[in-house]
Amino acid sequence: MKFNLDSMDAAHQNTDCIIVGLFEQMKLTPAAKQVDKISKNYLTALLKQGDFQGKSGQTLLLHRVPHIKSPRVLLVGCGNESTLNAREFRKIVLSSIKALSTIKVKQVTSFLTELDVKQHNLPWKIKQSVFVSAEALYCFDQYKSSKAPQPTLRELNLFVPKDQSGPDCNLALKQAVCINDGVEFTKNLANVPSNICTPAYLAAQAKKLGKQYKHLTVKVLEEKAMAALGMGALLAVAKGSAEPAKLICLEYRGTAKKQAPIVLVGKGVTFDSGGISLKSADAMVGMKYDMCGAATVLGTLKAAAELKLPLHVVGIIAAVENMPSGTASKPEDIVTTLSGQTVEILNTDAEGRLILCDALTYSERYKPAAVIDIATLTGAVVVALGQHATGLLSNHEPLAKALLEAGIESHDRAWQLPLWDDYQEQLKSPFADFSNVGGKQAGTITAGCFLSRFAKKFHWAHLDVAGTAAVMMGGSDRFATGRPVPLLMHYLINQAR
Ligand code: BES
Ligand code: MN
Ligand code: ZN
Repeated sequence: MKFNLDSMDAAHQNTDCIIVGLFEQMKLTPAAKQVDKISKNYLTALLKQGDFQGKSGQTLLLHRVPHIKSPRVLLVGCGNESTLNAREFRKIVLSSIKALSTIKVKQVTSFLTELDVKQHNLPWKIKQSVFVSAEALYCFDQYKSSKAPQPTLRELNLFVPKDQSGPDCNLALKQAVCINDGVEFTKNLANVPSNICTPAYLAAQAKKLGKQYKHLTVKVLEEKAMAALGMGALLAVAKGSAEPAKLICLEYRGTAKKQAPIVLVGKGVTFDSGGISLKSADAMVGMKYDMCGAATVLGTLKAAAELKLPLHVVGIIAAVENMPSGTASKPEDIVTTLSGQTVEILNTDAEGRLILCDALTYSERYKPAAVIDIATLTGAVVVALGQHATGLLSNHEPLAKALLEAGIESHDRAWQLPLWDDYQEQLKSPFADFSNVGGKQAGTITAGCFLSRFAKKFHWAHLDVAGTAAVMMGGSDRFATGRPVPLLMHYLINQAR
């Protein structure tokens, strides 16, 4: 879909449909007021009849409103003006696009950008309009033999009042479009099933990006090279699978200046069966999404390169498949990590931390300014925070704060959990330096504690996206969200300033 900014008023707009808002209690937004005035009170008459209440998300499509150039007007309920917040705004935009997705409009103009949203400005509304509209029309039917009919909606103009248009709005639009490209890339890749999306497939996708973007270089370490380095933990996960592991390293240099990089580390388990600590059949559905961290790293680097961010960003993807077999790791096996620390594998299903720990140690060689790992790491984070917030743990408060803020700005929010030493004790092992699981309590935190032992040499944050990167409830309601690409992109944009 194409997005533009437009300052032409509601009466003179000449697109297939204009979208205007109405609050509850018959209160009109500025665009609605203008439509009402030009059409000689067409809207007020309609409201008096009681056909439209202005409830948040309610829609009514009108045709040939007198003296209005556009042939259609979509009325959208905006609820209570005084409680219009980020969540409400997104809901209103979503219902407006959904209402238009089944009718034959090509180019439409939305005046919802003129709504006052608590604590947010016009650039924010522009960005959210792009994200939500694209989301509403997203469809993944690559593997369906009969494709869903393409929505005819191709172009969305976002209204920007003349006196408020300027470089801030243009930049917001450009950023939103690039971020959305990254989000869609991430979603598409995550949705590919694991019989196709293997570690080798992830490596090929990374290489393809490297060819596309001038400032992006890609190298892939094979198992032999990883063994020579001493990545005993990562390889212990991979050895039960017929698919060879890959360590995919991407480097984006968007600036000629010598700059310590921000390193993004992604969990790329292309399928997580649990290994010898096998998951139940039900728990396995959704585990093709265990590479969402990897897909996020690729989508974020793509968006950063597309935006030409003047930054140095490195992506490291630990790509493996976690399978049970005669060659798989077993509970109580002890492995030596790249850091030299030994780990007793008590549960082969806690494989994410085993691959990430070696990737974290590997990132030391880049002398990073900060390292952020992204992983569908624990079921416990879904219990704690559900689908709405990503779990955040960090050893550096300013980094944690910057990520939380980027989450709010992008409405791709995270919530911090404590990384207190008290929890470290749960990882004690009688035989190795520590074990890979910390018992029943505080599963997300003990996973973070495990990783923190490999992040002592840099500022580090961990994003547990098991609840947010994909919805994997079973049934037909399973989909990737592209999160946390928007959070990371807002963080990077802020760092580039
Ligand atoms: N990939 C899973 C985490 C997960 C669970 C993601 C549900 C999305 C939805 C991870 O590898 C895992 O199996 N974690 C275990 C850890 C446990 C064995 C300590 C878990 O959460 O049960
Ligand atoms: Mn697992
Ligand atoms: Zn996993």
